[in-house]
Amino acid sequence: MKEIRRTKISEALKLTTFGEEVNLKGWVRTRRGNKNVSFVALNDGSTINNIQIVIDVANFGEEFLKPITTGACINVNGKLVESQGKGQTVEIQATEIEIYGAADPTTYPLQKKGHSLEFLREIAYLRPRTNTFGAVFRMRHHMSYAVHKYFNDRGFYYFHTPIITASDAEGAGAMFEVTTLDHANPPKAEDGTVDFSQDFFGRQTNLTVSGQLEGELGAMALGAIYTFGPTFRAENSNTPRHLAEFWMIEPEVAFYDIFDNMDLAEDFLKYLVKYALDNCIDDIEFLAKMYDEDLVARLKFVVENDFVRLTYTDGVKILEESGHKFEFPVYWGADLQSEHERYLVEKHFKCPVILTDYPKDIKSFYMKQNEDGKTVRAMDVLFPKIGEIIGGSERESDYDKLLQRVEEMEMDIESIWWYLDIRKFGTAPHSGFGLGFERLMLFVTGMTNIRDVIPFPRTPNHAEY
Ligand code: 4AD
Ligand code: MG
Repeated sequence: MKEIRRTKISEALKLTTFGEEVNLKGWVRTRRGNKNVSFVALNDGSTINNIQIVIDVANFGEEFLKPITTGACINVNGKLVESQGKGQTVEIQATEIEIYGAADPTTYPLQKKGHSLEFLREIAYLRPRTNTFGAVFRMRHHMSYAVHKYFNDRGFYYFHTPIITASDAEGAGAMFEVTTLDHANPPKAEDGTVDFSQDFFGRQTNLTVSGQLEGELGAMALGAIYTFGPTFRAENSNTPRHLAEFWMIEPEVAFYDIFDNMDLAEDFLKYLVKYALDNCIDDIEFLAKMYDEDLVARLKFVVENDFVRLTYTDGVKILEESGHKFEFPVYWGADLQSEHERYLVEKHFKCPVILTDYPKDIKSFYMKQNEDGKTVRAMDVLFPKIGEIIGGSERESDYDKLLQRVEEMEMDIESIWWYLDIRKFGTAPHSGFGLGFERLMLFVTGMTNIRDVIPFPRTPNHAEY
């Protein structure tokens, strides 16, 4: 074949240099036609859009073209011409074709169109080839980049917190243990418990549930940091909004109080949603057409409107007085369920909501205590269709108050002495929050199951490909 530098399909579709010869490589979405002419819709992942390859059958022979079926990968040289068909401006008249890899139509799982999302979840290794997952995973990339750009442009430093941790202090959920001990025959201490001093790290370790505690150490030195990494929770919550392995973004900022923190969270979310609208509109429009016709309007609404801010106490009052029948009872002191959060957002305010000042007993030990002795400076951002998308707080910066809380909750001080100690050496007011990246992805794609916005979802009883 003639050596021509490859053009990505996203670029080729914009070309107007008709008559020029180009090289394209990609996977066949469909091939149709007749004895004389064959049309291939080719996709290389650079865009949701396919390019049409027109093949004069006589030039190649039917036998040669046979393996060019849905899923096959081909390398094409051809002449760029103005398209005759509707819906596209350019197409390629093939001059040379090499078949990189066939995909036997009798066994290729994506041979037919229109598979259910449930079915596609069973073939995670192939689903990026579909239009839907191509769109979602391209957007996942763009949103990751937007996260880094947002913080970099504002002087935040990307701070890498450990994935293997010896503290289980967050109380954010059950943890996965990391060990090299022999399962069948672990070393035992005298009291019969497992002797972790013989484990790899000389102590018991787990996968982190959050980078926050270490992130705070970064903020106490660099001023403003953020983490963006995988986090792990071993809760058995099989819901469309929970993963056992998910990605979280956690900014932490010295000298911020809870109001600065709310401003940051609102500005950050609006930036991300606007970034999606500005940079991913082809994919968004495809997903809107397929799954959710209100998607674009919902995204614009979030960008253009102020979030409502109110206290947990006021929120509970609204829920109690709503007359609405909830599956889980609502009363002051109850941990709000997603049905309660969504009622406030979708039915009552019809707008994103930031709830603050939760009862201390349903929130983490590190949150700054209010004067009332009952509530803490927590803030949760609640979104339409999602419920909680962000959880955060102002942190308790007073050593004695924090210690008191740790003791009250009978926490293991041994594993978080450093978290307390940082309050002894130049403590400062500070705040931060965590954005669940897949919750954000649910929102910007309009998908409704969190398993469909991460390439390889990990959930109870599921670590497949
Ligand atoms: O509210 P969470 O548990 O807060 C923390 O972990 C704090 N350390 C954050 C901080 O203040 N730096 O989790 C934060 C967010 C939630 O609002 C939600 O979006 C997401 O992480 N999240 C999950 N996403 C997917 N699957 C799960 N199992 C999740 N648990 C929490
Ligand atoms: Mg939370």
